[in-house]
Amino acid sequence: MTATICGTGSYIPSYTMDNHDIAKLVDTSDEWIRERTGIARRHIIQNETTVSMAAEAGRRALEDAGLPPEEVDLILVSTISSNLILPCAACEVQKELGAVNATCFDLSAACTGFVLAYNTAMAYLTGGIYRTALIIGSESLSNLTNWKDRGTCILFGDGAGAAVLRAGDFGKAVGTYLPVTHSDGGRGAALTCKSRHDYNGLNCHKGSGDDVSYYMQMDGQAVFKFAVKNVPEVIGEVLALNHVDPEEITYYILHQANRRIVEVVAKRLGEPMEKFPMNLEEYGNTSSASIPILLDEMNRQGRLRAGQKLVLAGFGAGLTWGASIVEWRSLRQ
Ligand code: ACO
Repeated sequence: MTATICGTGSYIPSYTMDNHDIAKLVDTSDEWIRERTGIARRHIIQNETTVSMAAEAGRRALEDAGLPPEEVDLILVSTISSNLILPCAACEVQKELGAVNATCFDLSAACTGFVLAYNTAMAYLTGGIYRTALIIGSESLSNLTNWKDRGTCILFGDGAGAAVLRAGDFGKAVGTYLPVTHSDGGRGAALTCKSRHDYNGLNCHKGSGDDVSYYMQMDGQAVFKFAVKNVPEVIGEVLALNHVDPEEITYYILHQANRRIVEVVAKRLGEPMEKFPMNLEEYGNTSSASIPILLDEMNRQGRLRAGQKLVLAGFGAGLTWGASIVEWRSLRQ
């Protein structure tokens, strides 16, 4: 059994904060942020939630695929910033969309989450367990951001992206590729955020107050070094494992964390920058939403064509990282 992406969607909050807005909150500048990260603005939720953005991105992906919600067998939401603990975001998406036949659960692996959701759905689909999966990355990182910390608040944004995966007999046109993924909990201290529910029993009513450990905290240089070493390595591993040459890859769709990270990865792989699309200037780092938002933009711009091979690569907190090869074939092409 083979499986392929057959539709994409995304939802971006309309409210934006540009670098000048951030410079009113912390000691920084538009010039510094652009030069060190490539980010110019980020979109921030107002009335939206992680669940509402996930549902809208999912609805748009199903529309793009031309499939009714009843056909969806599996909904996976990758998020570290859901507005709900119970029920899971995926069940809420199911309710919103009327995807009554779906099995639903969430997955939490920060910026590698969408790649892991893709791999999980592909395992179900190619294993013959389900036929249609809706996978979504949705994040409201603005809720986890310490807006007094210039080392992190310049980086993150909110949004959601989604893809519909369908199993079928696509013959040789769609290859089935094995993913490569890694985790190193030993290096987890590089990027942390305590749960707001991490209080002791009866003390839980005290709230988080000014304790910054309840916001994302990051050793930026450690994360940078990890990304520029491990991402090219894992891409090399996934290409070698599947006997795919770099020349066969049309685009490397990397988690959108920092333009300099993408540039170093391209250089280390010896691949031209044209193969590394980016949209982080507009959205900043949206964690597990960044890859599907970029995928959806490229799909709607008509840049993706049947037969193209793409590499999806995620990396982030955990530490976690991984890469998967996708052969593009919208069912309508
Ligand atoms: N504005 C102005 N100056 C700043 C700012 C800022 N926002 N932040 C730091 N500085 C200063 C520092 O204080 C330091 O000053 P000093 O030399 O006087 O001590 C100087 O700028 C350089 O600081 P560095 O931390 O060395 O800056 P760096 O070039 O490493 O850039 C950055 C920092 C942008 C955070 C970078 O390390 C980075 O992008 N790291 C990766 C982060 C990332 O992608 N994280 C997400 C991973 S995915 C996930 O799972 C969420």
